[in-house]
Amino acid sequence: MLDLHQLSVTFNEGTPDEKKALQNINLSLQAGQFVTIIGSNGAGKSTLMNMISGALTPDVGDVMIDNRTVTFEPEYKRSQLIGRVFQDPMAGTAPSMTIEENLALAYSRNKKELLNLE
Ligand SMILES: Nc1ncnc2c1ncn2[C@@H]1O[C@H](COP(=O)(O)OP(=O)(O)O)[C@@H](O)[C@H]1O
Ligand SMILES: [Mg+2]
Repeated sequence: MLDLHQLSVTFNEGTPDEKKALQNINLSLQAGQFVTIIGSNGAGKSTLMNMISGALTPDVGDVMIDNRTVTFEPEYKRSQLIGRVFQDPMAGTAPSMTIEENLALAYSRNKKELLNLE
């Protein structure tokens, strides 16, 4: 269902601030599997989530969801296949909408006929 193939990303390559955030990450998850990614501050957890969601693209490697290669698909396209809840409750939500409306928006994804937020 979710396959990560040899993902690597380096920030600020070739500069004194160079940081190899991910190096050759491989992961294969099937539907229904529950996985916790644990790592110290700066280990690369958020970078990994950003690669999966499409907020960032890797330098090397591929992200596949349901056998579709989405490595370079932007977040809004990938959102048909994958969702994300942020650690910061103000991220990823529409602050001018109610909680119910935010939930309805997520629920109605890909169901245009359900989207009625008048
Ligand atoms: N946009 C960025 N530019 C430069 N360095 C970054 C950027 N994002 C993350 N990093 C660096 O990459 C490493 C991994 O960061 P991050 O994925 O946020 O770790 P975690 O979420 O596990 O705390 C850290 O050293 C961080 O400083
Ligand atoms: Mg983080």
